[in-house]
Amino acid sequence: CMWVRSHGQKKTPPGPFPWPLVGNVMQLGQMPHLTFCKMAQKYGNVFQIRLGNHDIVVLNGESTIREALVKHSAEFAGRPKFTSFQVVSGGKSMAFGGYTDLWKVHKRIAHSTLRAFSTVNTDTTKLFEQHVVAETQDLITVFLQLSSNGQYFDPYHECTVAVANVICALCFGQRYSHDDKEFRALVGRNNKFGQTVGAGSLVDIMPWLQAFPNPVRSLYKSFKDLNQEFFDFVKDKISQHRQTYCPDVTRDMSDAFIGHIEHGPGAGDGLSKDYVEGTVTDLLGAGQDTNSSALSWIILLLIKYPNIQVKLQEEIDQIIGEERLPTAEDKVTLPYVQAFIYETLRYTSFVPVTIPHSTTSDVIIDGFYIPKDTVVFVNQWSVNHDEVKWTNPDVFEPGRFLDQNGQLDRDLAYGVMIFSLGKRRCIGDQLSMLKLFLFTSILLHQCSLHPHPGDQITMDCVNGLALKPLPYRISVVPRHASPNQN
Ligand code: HEM
Repeated sequence: CMWVRSHGQKKTPPGPFPWPLVGNVMQLGQMPHLTFCKMAQKYGNVFQIRLGNHDIVVLNGESTIREALVKHSAEFAGRPKFTSFQVVSGGKSMAFGGYTDLWKVHKRIAHSTLRAFSTVNTDTTKLFEQHVVAETQDLITVFLQLSSNGQYFDPYHECTVAVANVICALCFGQRYSHDDKEFRALVGRNNKFGQTVGAGSLVDIMPWLQAFPNPVRSLYKSFKDLNQEFFDFVKDKISQHRQTYCPDVTRDMSDAFIGHIEHGPGAGDGLSKDYVEGTVTDLLGAGQDTNSSALSWIILLLIKYPNIQVKLQEEIDQIIGEERLPTAEDKVTLPYVQAFIYETLRYTSFVPVTIPHSTTSDVIIDGFYIPKDTVVFVNQWSVNHDEVKWTNPDVFEPGRFLDQNGQLDRDLAYGVMIFSLGKRRCIGDQLSMLKLFLFTSILLHQCSLHPHPGDQITMDCVNGLALKPLPYRISVVPRHASPNQN
């Protein structure tokens, strides 16, 4: 049944009938983004549900999401004051912080610093590329070791270490070996993070559950511990940096943040010293969870579609040859590799719903009135699986992104929504796209990947802020005589 609400004379979004106490929580299911797509068919692109104490507006479809996040960008730039958000990055998180003047300064510094260490110009891109290439080569060596004598292994943990190392190199000028136990434990616990802050997480929508000893409560406790442990790790690194800080030499992003926030022209902007730790923790967390999901989806799709794997290798062999590794500059000449990456982002939509937003003032969207401080879920999945926009959206077909000349159709590619839009758009977008390109092209240049013959390869996944594939096993075979020649 359609539950029609009104707010004085104003028309509020329709939606399913909210049951007392729980609202619509029982209807969400394991994959809320799929439920939202079904609800959107029934109620329209803007609808409202109730989860615990919160009325939540869900936005679907490209035009509605654009109208909200781009046209009304400031009105939709808030974050809800959820309990779980307050424990992230020592309470000084940019990603989870509310939309204030201080936040604008914080985001600007985080964004410009990240760019300065990755893709701002050709020199920094080269340096960044060296880190990614080194990690990918190391990852390949580990993959080959784990495949020795035809063994099979789950690549997930190795992927998380490789990804974390790239970010750690940028933040601290330091990387860790794949068998460093402490580091593995630290980065390997990210799933719980995403499960608690993802849309539809019970911890926030029904805070009273925290009063009872139950699985939700223990998830929240381990979420708090995980954040504390992560934050302490960063705090320790930053304090070492402070002790050896020298204004003339910026060794890494930690130095850059110390410079900006504590010594530079930005020192008077109101960001206290502990925002340095907060920002670095944000970058490590945000970059890691998402990029490791991306890599594990890429590998899964390569073994699920061996013909596509071969086609990618043919393109790489033809353009690059055996003598050298693919580089960032090869991007334009490898359109099928790019198409494969865009199709992976579209098809998996592994960040199906963004971090929850909230409205910063009353606003009208598609004719519906949404009051200030309403929690808003942005369903990116609905854009990437829209049947009007994509032919057979539920089929994995990289070729859809190539034009008649076999070149990447940029307009179509930019129509994939995975980094969100507007004031809360991801700041790691360019860096991630470059990283995924280098990883995919180098991996396939150097080796072939095979699934365990006894395993069924499914697209089933574990839900959280980022969707992750269920564990799977691969074996990796070198393609050339000397796998890591450069
Ligand atoms: C936010 C996606 C990689 C840093 C976000 C959001 C999404 C997203 C959907 C939420 C936007 C919203 O709430 O509307 C992704 C994907 C990635 C990726 C798909 C990889 C393929 C990274 C990396 C970094 C990063 C590598 C940093 C090193 C951030 C930060 C925010 C954010 C700081 C918070 C922005 C804000 O609240 O204003 N990302 N991300 N992300 N991401 Fe990423």
